[in-house]
Amino acid sequence: MMRVADRIAVPPARAVTGELRVPGDKSISHRYALLAAIADGPSMIANYAPGADCASTLACLASLGAIVSRTPAPDDADPPIVAIQGRGLRGLVTPSGPLDCGNSGSTMRMLGGVIAAHPFISTLVGDASLSRRPMRRIIGPLTQMGATVTAGPGDRPPVVIHGGQLAAIHFAPDTPSAQVKSAVLLAGLQATGDTRVSEPASTRDHTERALAAFGAAVAVVGRSITLRGGQRLSGRVLRVPGDLSSAAFMAVAAAALTGSDVTISDVGLNPSRAGLLDLLRRFGAQVETVVEDEWNGEPVGRLRVRHSVMRDLVIAPEEVPEVIDELPVLATLGTFGGSVTVSGASELRVKESDRIAELVAGLRAMGADADERPDGFQVRSGARLTGGTVHANHDHRLAMAFAIAALGATGPTLIEGADAVAVSYPAFFEDLERLAREG
Ligand code: S3P
Repeated sequence: MMRVADRIAVPPARAVTGELRVPGDKSISHRYALLAAIADGPSMIANYAPGADCASTLACLASLGAIVSRTPAPDDADPPIVAIQGRGLRGLVTPSGPLDCGNSGSTMRMLGGVIAAHPFISTLVGDASLSRRPMRRIIGPLTQMGATVTAGPGDRPPVVIHGGQLAAIHFAPDTPSAQVKSAVLLAGLQATGDTRVSEPASTRDHTERALAAFGAAVAVVGRSITLRGGQRLSGRVLRVPGDLSSAAFMAVAAAALTGSDVTISDVGLNPSRAGLLDLLRRFGAQVETVVEDEWNGEPVGRLRVRHSVMRDLVIAPEEVPEVIDELPVLATLGTFGGSVTVSGASELRVKESDRIAELVAGLRAMGADADERPDGFQVRSGARLTGGTVHANHDHRLAMAFAIAALGATGPTLIEGADAVAVSYPAFFEDLERLAREG
């Protein structure tokens, strides 16, 4: 692969083979950092996600008075251990300036829930992409709990929160969202009374597991989660599993290219994130998982994916929440063989970019037979990609999805804006190159 500034040329590959570890889970890292900051005593977080998004969360917490430091891990191959000195429940302090969430919707929404319980005014800002994303979904419940929350036109950032003593609510969001569920639970932890969130469809349950790991009692009955306010958390020593959403790129490449065989070790295998594995099996890949351990309530193990046959894949609306971040890379399966059809996924339009429009435009630029639907897309099999030039549009998952599609093209693909991978998987291209070389 040739890299010049933020452009990278990805050549075709015959297969991907080998073993790797992927970076720490982004969703879990955000949650451990947020909970550590409002826990009593110190926490140490090993394998904290190395991307820019999770660094944004740490920078915001430092600005709110949590002491954050990094020390080298005993194993050189591991990222530094993040140490956070907790300030206790409702113990954060007025930040000196705006809280910059960068590209990270998770930071803005979940931190919003944390600071809504604090008696000061703060402003949450983000980059151009985050500044276009909807925030009504947290403004509604946090206002109902007693905070004063305002935002820019169309309820987009900047979000100004004047927090204080909150009261518990029972909240039933219209759209399934783990970020929104988490924002309400984090506010509820610091409110008076029992907060309940009843989800329209299950979403990733890392917040529930993390709260329990920090010592809080959380009651989960079906899709309702109840949490008593005022429970104090204790600082913990934690380790973050590898990110299945990062592993997804390599797993899809292995499913798509003849002769491929990839094993990812120490990867998070939480069932609320594992929709990808069922879909890869349905596509026709051989998928094996072995849960080897549990780290702070999160199952961790090995994932092996081997190419076999390729079938058409229809992803139904009820399957979408579990694979919301994997849909761009799953779409690329349609460019190798077996079409991919997705519906009920209009949420993709309000991610780091409009992931329906930009994904389809990029794949078409590479030669795919694909089209947009208001709430999804279809990528039809049969059109062999030629490669070409695509733009990641400041979206890390699009940059990586285009790189996977590029492996099956007849010629090279130039990905512009490839630096976007730094948001979640800084070493993505190096790891992919190694697997493709081994292949
Ligand atoms: C996340 C939840 C999902 C996902 C995002 C991370 C989380 O967003 O797309 O990348 O960590 O809770 P929504 O809550 O908006 O669905």
